[in-house]
Amino acid sequence: MNNFKPTINQLPEVNPGPRHLNSVLERRKLLARRMLQISGERPSVAILFSGNEQIRNKDVLFPFRASSDFLYLSGFSEPEAWLFVYVNASGTLTDTIFSRKKIKSKEIWEGIIAGQLLVKEKYGVKNSFPVDELNSEVLEIIEASECIFAPFNDFSVVNKTINSWILEVEKKKRSGVDAPKALFNLNLLTEDSRQIKDSYEIQTMRQAAKISSLAHMRAMKFCKAGVSESHLEAELLHEFKIQGAQDVAYPSIVASGPHTCILHHRAGKRILNDGELLLIDAGCELNGYASDITRTFPISGRFSAVQRDIYEIVRAAQAEAIEKAKPGVNISDPHDAAVRCITRGLLDLGLIKSASLEDAIQKKDYFRFYMHRTGHWLGLDVHDVGSYKKPLSAGMVMTVEPGIYISPAEDLPEHFWNIGIRIEDDILITESGCEILSEDVPANPDEIQYLMCG
Ligand code: GLY
Ligand code: MN
Ligand code: MN
Repeated sequence: MNNFKPTINQLPEVNPGPRHLNSVLERRKLLARRMLQISGERPSVAILFSGNEQIRNKDVLFPFRASSDFLYLSGFSEPEAWLFVYVNASGTLTDTIFSRKKIKSKEIWEGIIAGQLLVKEKYGVKNSFPVDELNSEVLEIIEASECIFAPFNDFSVVNKTINSWILEVEKKKRSGVDAPKALFNLNLLTEDSRQIKDSYEIQTMRQAAKISSLAHMRAMKFCKAGVSESHLEAELLHEFKIQGAQDVAYPSIVASGPHTCILHHRAGKRILNDGELLLIDAGCELNGYASDITRTFPISGRFSAVQRDIYEIVRAAQAEAIEKAKPGVNISDPHDAAVRCITRGLLDLGLIKSASLEDAIQKKDYFRFYMHRTGHWLGLDVHDVGSYKKPLSAGMVMTVEPGIYISPAEDLPEHFWNIGIRIEDDILITESGCEILSEDVPANPDEIQYLMCG
């Protein structure tokens, strides 16, 4: 506890310049190699769309965020942009971005548009065209491709648009043009490679976790009876933004008292009271990458005995889960360790009654109090892509987030009611175990109390 010092202003530098460009080029090369393997060395094209801006009301738009796969393979974040990664049978890669034209009168209202020259230079593509020319230029690429790799999980305009291009090519059949013969799921390829983070991604995610840790510590300092959940949401956002994060990775959960038992409660008007717990699940997005941290603490700064009993069970469950997280194990191993620890704790407190620990686990008695999994992949998406069947390996980033939630119920002693506790950290799997990216923000009750009360 004596060693605890907040780490304000000790953030590592992130350089999104040339290093990032190298990562993006490597990713496209890897994608092309995998496309050739899967298609049996046939000429193939992968098609990605950044997305359209969405209207919030009338002429006001929601803030735009490019689709994660597009961002991953291009590094480019403007709306209305398309990326084509074409590879011929001998493995030569031709990448093309279609993007908005630079129009001065539009830039005056909406800000800088990269334009074709800058896109080509900055994102390393061979061809860079205005998006107005998409429909005329694209048919040549489709005609040259026997196989198309498109996202299967996309419900926007992408698949409809691709179909319309295929129909156009079909129409040329009598003049000797062949339409593509096979369609493959692009998501399976991007999922695989997004699951293992490269050094740029790791550095960015370390920094995102550091910024979120600072934000959690700021919220702890501002937390007191009489302030609202929304006030603390604002303090989190304040720290995210002044430390350079562009956005939240997901709407911040600031849950007080009974709200701690609502897993995804959104910060609202409720005023905090002494004696209650506060659960904050919040993380920033930095250069597209998410962080996802939860801390639960007493609004007064001091845990009651019963709150601390439950808290220590969750903390022990998290420690056991983290202990298990290393290369070679399945992601369900940390979960099983957390479930065992939580079930043992609930039995000891008499909250569940079973003949034995094994029996309680087998019958899932814990599920009433612990109804979610212990972790998920983290990356460009907060619930990131990737198989949950693969064993953990170095470069994967995941959360470890056990919890216990006790909603009021007649069969439970009243002093347990409305205690909802989750502790969530972000970890990077390393060759020998794991690195906790979010360890700057205290989870030890004494350290929390020191931070809140001095
Ligand atoms: N913040 C959502 C989650 O922890 O999964
Ligand atoms: Mn999470
Ligand atoms: Mn979370």
